[in-house]
Amino acid sequence: MIKGKNILLGVSGGIAAYKVLDLCSRLKKEGANLKIIMTKAACEFVSPLSFETMGKCLVYSDMFEGSHEKVHHIELPKWADVFLVAPLSANTLAKMTYGIADNMLTASLLACDKDIIVAPTMNTNMLNNKATQNNLKTIKERGVHIINPNSGLLACDTRGDGRMEEPVNIVRYLDYYFTKKDLKGKKIIVSAGPTVEPIDYVRFITNKSSGKMGYNIAIEAFKRGADVKLVSGPVNPIKTNGIDKINIRTNLELKEAIDKEFDDCDALIMSAAPTDYKVREVSDKKIKKNGDNLNLELIENIDILKYFGNKKDKQVLIGFAAETDDLIKNAKIKLESKKADYIIANDLKKKGAGFDVDTNIASILSKDKVEKLDIMTKKELANKILDLLV
Ligand code: CTP
Repeated sequence: MIKGKNILLGVSGGIAAYKVLDLCSRLKKEGANLKIIMTKAACEFVSPLSFETMGKCLVYSDMFEGSHEKVHHIELPKWADVFLVAPLSANTLAKMTYGIADNMLTASLLACDKDIIVAPTMNTNMLNNKATQNNLKTIKERGVHIINPNSGLLACDTRGDGRMEEPVNIVRYLDYYFTKKDLKGKKIIVSAGPTVEPIDYVRFITNKSSGKMGYNIAIEAFKRGADVKLVSGPVNPIKTNGIDKINIRTNLELKEAIDKEFDDCDALIMSAAPTDYKVREVSDKKIKKNGDNLNLELIENIDILKYFGNKKDKQVLIGFAAETDDLIKNAKIKLESKKADYIIANDLKKKGAGFDVDTNIASILSKDKVEKLDIMTKKELANKILDLLV
């Protein structure tokens, strides 16, 4: 959680400084407190006024300007929960490596005993130069966290490595960094999205599940340190940086993928929406119309949660109940019949709950308790669900 965290942001000279305005805005939206230090070179690219406005904070750039009741390059790192330098230029990197303290940023870096995260950016040749590579290696060995630059078109009109990581990903990195790793060592299987059952060569049965709830759970569990196996039906792409993901289509594939991981897992969270029925006889050709009605015989599909409810030993099983009527009554029946430890019940008819929205209004049912929750984002609900495992 970035909210409430004190982030000391160092901006060194590079054209990517303009992107850091966007980074400031994103960090403010996440609820961070900012203080900003700019080098003189950074001030040539973007005015400190822009940073003051976006960061809603003071910008420090001169060691000798302003009041000196406090020694800023000592006080600023003391205030910080983390010191982020973005962009980190080749020059500031070199000074940082050798402990040179000739400006407000480098002096503050030398005085910093908190974690330092840097996002280097520079021309590809400067980056690949042994001097820079050695400097990066040295600061890494000292424990500095490096957000590696990526590849793309650079300001010098060449393509190659050296582009600063995008602000959205730097925010993700910080979010991961600040999240308490209270699920470390736990293996959690999360299923997400719909399943798909074929009718013929081109047609299939599926449902409206967007996968958003399951993906939020997987991402939050990953951030909290869990070893996550995300088993996903076909959904619109959602970024899952670094999470082990297994793609499936049918119920049987979903069950088999979970089964492979189940024995040594600590929890299974069934947020997928498996299709309850499948076609008895699937045609391997495209069915042609013949002027008459077409009757498909649908047979009940395997209930995956129930299967693992019967199989489980130490595992915690969390299921969902998507209902349009008698929410708690139906959810209780599911809790018992599927032998789940918890059921997260959603009233699909409520505004702000259900498929394809970013919020949910849920109740958490366990054997002897029903906890009704307020409307919250799927990310917040994901964390509530994961709290049950802690
Ligand atoms: N579930 C499952 N296998 C199925 C159907 C559902 O594992 N074939 C799981 C879902 O992932 C969810 C829970 O069971 O965690 C409840 O799913 P839901 O769709 O609400 O209910 P169903 O069991 O399908 O019952 P009904 O459709 O009659 O409400």
